Amino acid sequence: MAAKNYLVLLVLLLTDLVRSSDSFERHRLLENGLGRTPPMGWNSWNYFHCGINEEIIRATADAIVSTGLRDVGYEYVNIDDCWAELSRDNEGNLQARNSTFPSGIKALADYVHSKNLKFGIYSDAGYLTCQEQPGSLNHEDQDAKTFAAWGVDYLKYDNCHTDGSSPRIRYPIMRDALSAAGRPIFFSMCEWGQEDPATWASSVGNSWRTTGDIQNKWESMISIADKNNAWAEHAAPGGWNDPDMLEIGNGGMSFQESRTHFSLWALMKAPLIIGCDVRNIAAQDLAILMNKEVIQINQDALGVQGRKVAGDGEQEVWGGPLSNGRFALLMLNRGSDPADITAEFAALGIPSNVSVMIRDVWKLPGTGTYNSSITSRVESHDVAMYILTPV
Ligand code: GAL
Repeated sequence: MAAKNYLVLLVLLLTDLVRSSDSFERHRLLENGLGRTPPMGWNSWNYFHCGINEEIIRATADAIVSTGLRDVGYEYVNIDDCWAELSRDNEGNLQARNSTFPSGIKALADYVHSKNLKFGIYSDAGYLTCQEQPGSLNHEDQDAKTFAAWGVDYLKYDNCHTDGSSPRIRYPIMRDALSAAGRPIFFSMCEWGQEDPATWASSVGNSWRTTGDIQNKWESMISIADKNNAWAEHAAPGGWNDPDMLEIGNGGMSFQESRTHFSLWALMKAPLIIGCDVRNIAAQDLAILMNKEVIQINQDALGVQGRKVAGDGEQEVWGGPLSNGRFALLMLNRGSDPADITAEFAALGIPSNVSVMIRDVWKLPGTGTYNSSITSRVESHDVAMYILTPV
């Protein structure tokens, strides 16, 4: 490599360093040490809604292992709303719903842990959850202790049936209760982006929803991606924008649309929380969720959220920096016909005299060396996605 090229590489690496320390400065981190990369796992809501029970959760944990999902990084098994009795016990404790979770939550968490997975639960910063089991408002310390005693590793905290006060007041109370409870618990805030949490939540939670609920169709998924994109600069290791859970495997999107969904979530450093029935997942959907290079983009140590960098009507270029001077690049075709999309490397901040080696993460073998731009044919509602390494 010529000396000039070494110099360029050095400049790119130094830019990495400055970017990481910038985001550290900007980011008053929640000091629980969790979420250094976006969380990966599964949650019951998108597919099962309230139709959950302990057998389903156990079988899901088994399937996360047998499919290989655990081995590519999916670790949290999270139950959403509808796990609790509709009233607290005589001492005011939350209790597992006896008709569906007769063995109790501790036994379930133990089972999940025995598979080398982590266990997540759900509560609400109001009097009741959205499905009207007891919420944690005014019970934060007691509930945090209960969760810690059960072996909970992740809490999704919703925002229904509140006292009308701001989430900025109610969510820090649970943050403090969790940190006093003596067990590291990932704190996933779910106030649906109502008070622009990206601007304040990094000192409160490890992730914060930026939008309302995702629906199992292209229009919802893509509009949520756009909303989440607006907050890109606020994501960093320890605290992530959350555009809601994945719908891949739930049948509402084509193969191309599902791959677009996964690529965008990975690029945006979103939590990768699977929302389908992994006991019966189709091979094609599993292959999307298990693309190791796309997962690597999501889990990259630099932790900078990729964003839209150029747009021309229905064809767009998204991207962002990765560790070791590399970049992720995504071309998105929102249109209904195939289109050629050109990505100028300058839009990613790559100097014009630098050549890059390109790795296509959806097509094999898909490598090559390019100068200044790349043009690719992208199908309707599909993406091309690359890792760029300066040479
Ligand atoms: C919503 C939340 C969903 C799900 C649901 C459960 O508020 O956004 O992801 O948790 O409540 O009732």
